[in-house]
Amino acid sequence: GNEINIGLLGFGTVGSGVAKIILGHQQDLHHKLGTEVKIKKVLVRDMTKKRETDLPADVFTDDIDEVLNDPSIDLIVEVMGGMNGAKDAIEAALNAGKGVVTANKDLMAVYGPELLRLADENKCDLFYEASVGGGIPLIRTMEEGLASDRISSLTGIVNGTTNFILTKMKQENMSYEDALAEAMELGFAEADPSADVDGIDAARKMVILASLAFSTEVQLEDVFVRGMKEIQDGDVDLAESFGYTVKMAGHAEKDEDGIAVSVEPVFIPNSHPLASVHNEYNAVYIYGAAVGETMLYGPGAGSLPTATSVTADVMAACRNLLLGMNGKKLHSPQYERKVKSDDK
Ligand code: NDP
Ligand code: HSE
Repeated sequence: GNEINIGLLGFGTVGSGVAKIILGHQQDLHHKLGTEVKIKKVLVRDMTKKRETDLPADVFTDDIDEVLNDPSIDLIVEVMGGMNGAKDAIEAALNAGKGVVTANKDLMAVYGPELLRLADENKCDLFYEASVGGGIPLIRTMEEGLASDRISSLTGIVNGTTNFILTKMKQENMSYEDALAEAMELGFAEADPSADVDGIDAARKMVILASLAFSTEVQLEDVFVRGMKEIQDGDVDLAESFGYTVKMAGHAEKDEDGIAVSVEPVFIPNSHPLASVHNEYNAVYIYGAAVGETMLYGPGAGSLPTATSVTADVMAACRNLLLGMNGKKLHSPQYERKVKSDDK
């Protein structure tokens, strides 16, 4: 067709960024896809909020059914966050034959396998690139770029907020409270920032990454988690005096005994590339049997970086729709989940 219509659920940090990219890069998108991508409706909670956007006022609604039941909408982009409401919306969209793009790691870490099966049954796409690593194409790298390899481990900084806080505390002597307030102000933190500082957000992302890396269904309860609270006064200075940097890091590994996944504060030697990942930036260091070592690095949170990944998913879903390839998955075998219990 001449245009593909999007229903955007949410117009906060990420959703407003998606609109900026779709409107601002309209010609590029048209050139690359051969069709126009149009934001047909936008769901928000508060219709009275002042919003700076070039979208016409009449696209905004606070009635989700108006978006989900619009037959002209081909794709739903879920960037409102939360669990049950977002899950219901995604299920309704898939059951109505609409493709879905989401940035919701809370949901994908717990219901990802179930939702992906539902997408499969309905022959629809469900893409979630922005759920891990903001603007870094990590999911595609796992699914495509490194698909031929056998990955043995992943180590990474996968939460922008905690990395931002640690950087500000170390480099600018900022207090924990001020650094967290700034991360919230900049839109990096979750609606409830305890998910960031307690390591839960990073654990969710490690579940998603490890499941892809090891072709199995890693579960949130498989992850050993210790949050930022474990960092004692003086740890950062002590680390520095020995040539180390304190980072919140995720680690996932697989060997013949099974898999182990963790998130915790660690000392990283300053000579390691992960020690120079600052502010809201993320990086994931991957070991593959054939490829050796690979590191992906980039902005892990924030409006436009995250929206870049969301819009790339929108473009992938558009291409599939145009080619009649939507929902067509290559066979992806799942290995049995086997967790190393001695790591718990
Ligand atoms: P925000 O809180 O900034 O925005 C949420 C948006 O959704 C708002 O526009 C809000 O409406 C709307 N909304 C929320 N709940 C409802 C509801 N029940 N009904 C109608 N509208 C609703 O969140 P973010 O943009 O930061 O995050 C969105 C998602 O992206 C989350 O899943 C988050 O985890 C994920 N994510 C965020 C990143 C970031 O850097 N911020 C990075 C990667 C992923 P209103 O504007 O009226 O309040
Ligand atoms: N709150 C998350 C972070 C957003 O700080 O990394 C990106 O997923």
